[in-house]
Amino acid sequence: MVYGQSKNNYPKQLYNFKCVLSIFIHESQINHYKLQKKLKYSRIIAGTMTWGEWGKKFSKNETIDLIHYCLEQDITSFDHADIYGGYTTEADFGNALSETNIPRDHIQLITKCGIQYLCENRNLKINHYNYSKDHIIWSAENSLKHLKTDYLDLLLLHRPSPLMHPDDISEAISQLKQQGKIKHFGVSNFTPSQVELISKEHEVSANQIEFSLTHHDALYDGTLDQMIKKNMIPMAWSPTGSIYKENTEQIQRIKKQLSELTETYGATQDQLLLAWILKHPSQIHPVIGTTTKERIKAAAKSIHLDLDFEDWFLILAASQGHKVP
Ligand SMILES: NC(=O)c1ccc[n+]([C@@H]2O[C@H](COP(=O)([O-])OP(=O)(O)OC[C@H]3O[C@@H](n4cnc5c(N)ncnc54)[C@H](OP(=O)(O)O)[C@@H]3O)[C@@H](O)[C@H]2O)c1
Repeated sequence: MVYGQSKNNYPKQLYNFKCVLSIFIHESQINHYKLQKKLKYSRIIAGTMTWGEWGKKFSKNETIDLIHYCLEQDITSFDHADIYGGYTTEADFGNALSETNIPRDHIQLITKCGIQYLCENRNLKINHYNYSKDHIIWSAENSLKHLKTDYLDLLLLHRPSPLMHPDDISEAISQLKQQGKIKHFGVSNFTPSQVELISKEHEVSANQIEFSLTHHDALYDGTLDQMIKKNMIPMAWSPTGSIYKENTEQIQRIKKQLSELTETYGATQDQLLLAWILKHPSQIHPVIGTTTKERIKAAAKSIHLDLDFEDWFLILAASQGHKVP
């Protein structure tokens, strides 16, 4: 073998270049794969829980305006649940959406089923869960009618039930998928073992969980590990946690630490709260609840922030009240 040539008879430099290139191609394939997996929804998702009866009670025109505003910020995914507004918010949103010229494939509609919630619109003895085949199908079809759409991008089971069985769920999901009524299926607030139970029969593509600086059990209890392993999409509800609801010692510590970093990153406290979530390698999609335009805009921009590892751990330590061992 001539010095300077590899065992494949490539000149050494070319051989090295080929190795680098193959690593690059391999990595870019992985990244592409990751992107393919994750780009079903906008990285920041607009939560609609308080758009209607349960909050701001937006008029049709205000709802249209806010939908357009979200799209202008590249927030194209909207998170619903049948129960929001006591089973009224999906229809309010659908009525507004149907009066826009927004092409259906420019937005993604996520909704949830399964909670039977005692209210004016549902005559029940008690709040409970229902994941029978008939109920899931009935609920999804109601959501389609209310949202005035032919398909849901993602249907989630809202909360796990002690009485759910994977076969019932699988039959309902298979039928809804075959009929083109849902594109993807997922769960919300499920533990890893509950995800295993359900995915025995059917692929679970997402788990929407409570996750924030004040609620981060999912870092340690296997929930996020499972989502990486199973190539699922994690979605974080209440991404600001209790920060604006309470004033505990933990929250004071977090706020102090964030205030020390706002200048470094040229970011607001809200943006750092989201940046901390976005840094997790499972590619968590925060579902933001704010209906305030400036906060929506700031949230959309937070995807461009990349926290330094040390800063990420400083914020974690502030939340936990101690450093990692
Ligand atoms: N899967 C589930 O079980 C589940 C459960 C709960 C929620 N969700 C979904 O998650 C979405 C978000 O939940 P969330 O509303 O609890 O999330 P959040 O984004 O953590 O909280 C939003 C609330 O915080 C307020 N806020 C945000 N920034 C603020 C600031 N800088 N100062 C003062 N107040 C501030 C907002 O008020 P303004 O509106 O006035 O800005 C809003 O009331 C919901 O819309 C829903 O789609 C899912």
